[in-house]
Amino acid sequence: FDQYAVIGHPIEHSQSPRIHAAFAKASSQRMVYEALLSPLDGLAQTWATLRANGGRGANITVPFKVEAMALCDQLSDRAELAGAVNTLSVLADGQVRGDNTDGAGLVRDIETNAGWQLAGQRVLLLGAGGASAGVLGPLLAAGVAHICIANRTLAKADKLAAAFAGMGSVSTAASSALAQSNDSASYDLIINATSASLQGKSIDIGASWYRESSAVYDMMYGFDTAFLAWARGQQISRRRDGLGMLVEQAAEAFYVWRGVRPDTQALLSSLRAELD
Ligand code: ATR
Repeated sequence: FDQYAVIGHPIEHSQSPRIHAAFAKASSQRMVYEALLSPLDGLAQTWATLRANGGRGANITVPFKVEAMALCDQLSDRAELAGAVNTLSVLADGQVRGDNTDGAGLVRDIETNAGWQLAGQRVLLLGAGGASAGVLGPLLAAGVAHICIANRTLAKADKLAAAFAGMGSVSTAASSALAQSNDSASYDLIINATSASLQGKSIDIGASWYRESSAVYDMMYGFDTAFLAWARGQQISRRRDGLGMLVEQAAEAFYVWRGVRPDTQALLSSLRAELD
């Protein structure tokens, strides 16, 4: 059986072992996948131990996604663009390849699972941390017309926008400006990539930035976030949390490792039934 793991700190609430076990079973792949708690200063050691025990790959989660780049001999384009790695693979020649499947997971969940169009749409992306960096490239590659990155700290949004300017039309706004009205056109899709939901906080967004027909996505899952509650209060009916992104980024990692695309629908329904 080939060995895989998810490495993070904390790790006990990770759904990844369960997700990959379901994928492996459904596609008859001989593999095991466990959760590994790494000490905060011990990522390299945790990965080295997994490899020494025959590990073929790992998912990397909070707070190690940026640090994991240093473990790689080579990076995929999307990991390079994201500046972060969530999937490590040991190649046949022993080299370690770093990839990032987060953005692909988000795009697939939005387009395929939610059935929301991305091509030609105007997107307001809240946050300018690692979560935003991971999804900007894949969103632009999916053909969105424009992305405005809004962040509490404007300088961080400006830095991200500059890094991605070559891929498409990107602007920035300070979060404080969102609370006020502005005269530009409203956004078709608002994605919350901040960690505000973890603090039970929403983001104050004025009426000119959205319409009832806009779609709203929160990358968090497992609880009714303040941001989605706000959207419900605005009569925005197209709302979605990040559970589908979680399952789809895992499916993409599974494909990177095994060359098999697992079906995600049954698993997504059962996780949804359990976590909601
Ligand atoms: P991640 O890797 O999850 O993106 P991060 O890099 O720490 O984590 O980034 C967190 C993001 O959430 C940042 O954009 C942060 O805004 P700042 O850059 O201004 O710090 C944003 N954020 C966190 N708490 C927030 C809050 N209560 N309101 C608005 N934005 C918040």
